[in-house]
Amino acid sequence: MKIKNICCIGAGYVGGPTMSIIAHKNPNIKVNVVDMNADKISAWNSKDLDNLPVYEPGLSKVVKEARGRNLFFSNDINKYIDQADMIFISVNTPTKTSGEGMGYAADLKYIEACAKQIAEVSKTDKIIVEKSTVPVRTSEKIRQILKLNNSHVDFQILSNPEFLAEGTAMRDLEIPDRVLIGGDKTPDGQKAIESLVKIYTSWVPRKNILTTNLWSSELSKLTANAFLAQRISSINSLSELCEETGADIEEVSKAIGMDSRIGSSFLKSSVGFGGSCFQKDILNLVYIARTLGLEKVADYWEQILIINEHQRNRFSSKIIDFIKKENLEPEVLMLGWAFKKNTNDSRESASIYVTNNLINNSIKVDIYDPKVKEYQVNFDLSSLNPDYDASLVNYIDNPFINISSYNTVVITTEWDEFKDFDWKTVYNNIKKPAYIFDGRNILKSEIIKKIGFNYLGLGRN
Ligand code: UDX
Ligand code: ADP
Repeated sequence: MKIKNICCIGAGYVGGPTMSIIAHKNPNIKVNVVDMNADKISAWNSKDLDNLPVYEPGLSKVVKEARGRNLFFSNDINKYIDQADMIFISVNTPTKTSGEGMGYAADLKYIEACAKQIAEVSKTDKIIVEKSTVPVRTSEKIRQILKLNNSHVDFQILSNPEFLAEGTAMRDLEIPDRVLIGGDKTPDGQKAIESLVKIYTSWVPRKNILTTNLWSSELSKLTANAFLAQRISSINSLSELCEETGADIEEVSKAIGMDSRIGSSFLKSSVGFGGSCFQKDILNLVYIARTLGLEKVADYWEQILIINEHQRNRFSSKIIDFIKKENLEPEVLMLGWAFKKNTNDSRESASIYVTNNLINNSIKVDIYDPKVKEYQVNFDLSSLNPDYDASLVNYIDNPFINISSYNTVVITTEWDEFKDFDWKTVYNNIKKPAYIFDGRNILKSEIIKKIGFNYLGLGRN
C-alpha cells in the first residue's frame, strides 16, 4: 500500500519533530499532526518560529520549509483520522498515579482513547503505528479496542518506537542509528511493514531499518532506555566512590570508555538523569517483571532508579551541609532547569528535586534557564510538592542580576553558555567565600579554583 496521507495524533516532543522530518523528506505525502491541546496547535502554526512548543536546534528551519506545503497542524482530529492511510499514535504515556500498578505501570489512557477514537471515525482500512513508548503487548490492547469498536475496517498495527534524544532530535531523526519496525508475521502485516519501510527509505539506508515482530519492537524500546540509564547510574555510583578514594570520575570515565567493548557514550557523571523516558520506562520494566513473578529481574533494574535518586539527594545534601557548616548566605543561584541542554523540556529534571530539597531546608533558590519558562518552573515544583514555599523560589531572566547576594552557584544543566561564562567577573561580584557546585562536571576545576572559587563537582577532589 502506497501511503499518501499520514495523521499523527500528538504534537509533542516526539510527534512534532518526527512528523516534521517525515514531511520534509517525503514532500508527496500529506502529514497532518493533530492534538487536543488548542494552544499547542496554534503555537505550531504561529509565524513566530522561535517559540514553537518544542525547542530543538534545527527544528524551526524544517517546519518553515514543510509547513503549509505537506505538513499541517490541526485540532480537527476526526477529520484527519478519517483521511489518513496511516496513523501514528504519539501521545504521552506517563506513570500511573492511581489504580493498579500505581507508581510503576505506564498509564495507557491516552493511547486507549486514541484507539477508540480511530475505531469510531474510520471508514477505510488503516495502518496504526505505535510511536509512543509503551509496555510490551500494548499493540494487543490497541487491536482489541479497534476490533471491538469497528468490525468493518481492517487495521494493521505496527510498532515503530522513537529513539530520538531531545536536544539532538533533528540529527537523530536525519541519521538514525537504526529505525525499528515491528509488525505481524502475516502477509498483511508484512505489507504494512513495507509501507512504513518505504517512507523511511526516502532518507534512511535500508540496511539501517530493522524489522521484527511486534513484541520485540515494543520491548526493545523499553530496554534500550534501561541500558542507557544503567550506564549513567553505574558511573554516578562510582562518582561517590571516587570522592571517598581520591580517584577522579572524569579520568575513570575516560579510561573505561576507551575500551571499545564499552564505548564512551553515556558515561558522564551528573546530578542524575531526567527526561520523560528513563524513569518511566524503567518503572514500567520493573512492573512488568514483577507482574510476571520475576522478582530478581525487577530488583536488578529498580536499582538504577535508587542510585539516581541517591545521586540527586547526595548532591543536594552537599550544598545544604556546606551552607550550614560555612555559614553561607541561604540563597543560591541555580543555573539550569531543563533536564539536559538544548531543550526546553524539564520533565523529571534533577533541578526540580534539588530545588525541592533546598527549599525544604529554608534555602532560597534563584533559577535561570535559557529556554524553560517561569510558568513551567512553578508547575514542576508544585507538581512535586503542592505545598512548596513559593516565596523561596525566584525565576530570573538574567543570571547576574542578583549576583552580589549569593555565596553559592549550583549548576544543574550543562548548557554551553554556562561553560562560557566570564567566571572571573562572576567571582569579582559574588559574595565571598564563593562556592560552585557543579552538578554536571562542566567546568575546568583547576581554572575555577585558581580564580578563587571553592569548587565541588561530582566524583572529583
Ligand atoms: C532518551 C534516549 O536517549 C532516547 O533514545 C529515547 O528515545 C528517549 O529517552 P532523552 O531522555 O531525550 O532520550 O535524552 P538523553 O540524552 O538520553 O538524556 C537523558 C538524561 O540522562 C538527561 O538528563 C541527561 O543529562 C542524562 N545523561 C545522559 C547523563 O547524566 N549522563 C550521560 O552520560 C548521558
Ligand atoms: P511526548 O514526549 O511523548 O511527545 P508530549 O506530552 O510532549 O509527550 O506530547 C504528547 C501530546 O499528545 C500532548 O500534546 C497531548 O495533548 C497529546 N494528546 C494526548 N492524548 C491525546 C488524544 N487522545 N488526542 C489528541 N492528542 C492527545
